[in-house]
Amino acid sequence: MDRDQLVNVARAMVAPGKGILAADESTPTITRRFAASGIETSAETRRDYREMLFRSQEAISANISGVILFDETIRQTATDGTPLVKLIEEAGAIPGIKVDDGAKPLAGFPGEAITEGLDGLRERLREYFILGARFAKWRATIDIGENIPTAYAVEANAHALARYAALCQEADIVPIVEPEVLMDGSHDIERSMEVTEFVLKTVFMRLYEARVLLEGMVLKPNMAVPGKKCARQASPEQVASATLRVLRNCAPAAVPGIAFLSGGQSEVEATANLNAINRLGGPWPLTFSYGRALQNTPLKLWAGKFENLRAAQAAFAHRAHMNALATQGRWSNEQEKAAA
Ligand code: 13P
Repeated sequence: MDRDQLVNVARAMVAPGKGILAADESTPTITRRFAASGIETSAETRRDYREMLFRSQEAISANISGVILFDETIRQTATDGTPLVKLIEEAGAIPGIKVDDGAKPLAGFPGEAITEGLDGLRERLREYFILGARFAKWRATIDIGENIPTAYAVEANAHALARYAALCQEADIVPIVEPEVLMDGSHDIERSMEVTEFVLKTVFMRLYEARVLLEGMVLKPNMAVPGKKCARQASPEQVASATLRVLRNCAPAAVPGIAFLSGGQSEVEATANLNAINRLGGPWPLTFSYGRALQNTPLKLWAGKFENLRAAQAAFAHRAHMNALATQGRWSNEQEKAAA
């Protein structure tokens, strides 16, 4: 384990004014998103779409520190034969890789999930390092509902996250540790805080037991937000104070940075909330690792057609820039409108 490399990469991933592009949708997930925009899915269309994003070189250079890829993508080449990984590196960003095999039903615990993918992970990480990945991602999902989450489901997921993180560091790959408390359902913001706190405390305990170097990882949590179906929604200021209250109680200052997922928030919501979070600030850099909140509009505009490439890239550049401003607490609604 090369501690210096891990620490340097982790710090670069949360460099000031930059965040992470999560472009690691699995084939079934990207297929669903393509279908919603009437786009056919094939290895080629998936490549074309990601090539469109990764060739937004100026937007990436200015605003994006790292890009999370899916297994298929890390092996693909652009239309002109350049490996997609090289496009990312040329834009000055770090390639990363999703290594979990997705959330599966947890046996004996209806409505709860366990993320799989530990078997053979050591060997896969070795290959991904050779392919250029310097960080990885593993997402655990925790649903809130009646009588869930159970302590057992949280425990099982935290344990898997810790084993994954230790394997990554052994392979000189920085783990993004992502325990996502989902925002589906009708729970209020207080319940989201309570569950997120329990999840994060459990995860950091398991990371400690697994001897994970906190200085060489990045935490990717959900913000504390009410469920989508909750009648009482929250302002960015409320989300910011709830989220930071939980994080300050759970995440050691040794963690080099925190990169939030967007989790189903709209693009502007995710930016406004991140901005409010940064107006309060924490002992860590607080940035984004967004999938949908960076890609919804670009994907819609692209719609699988070459002639829409520039419009899609402009929309992606816009969202990346707005979120970069939010990492510095410098975003405003007026800027959003002026630049759109
Ligand atoms: P969203 O921002 O769309 O939640 O995706 C982030 C991510 O990488 C989920 O694992």
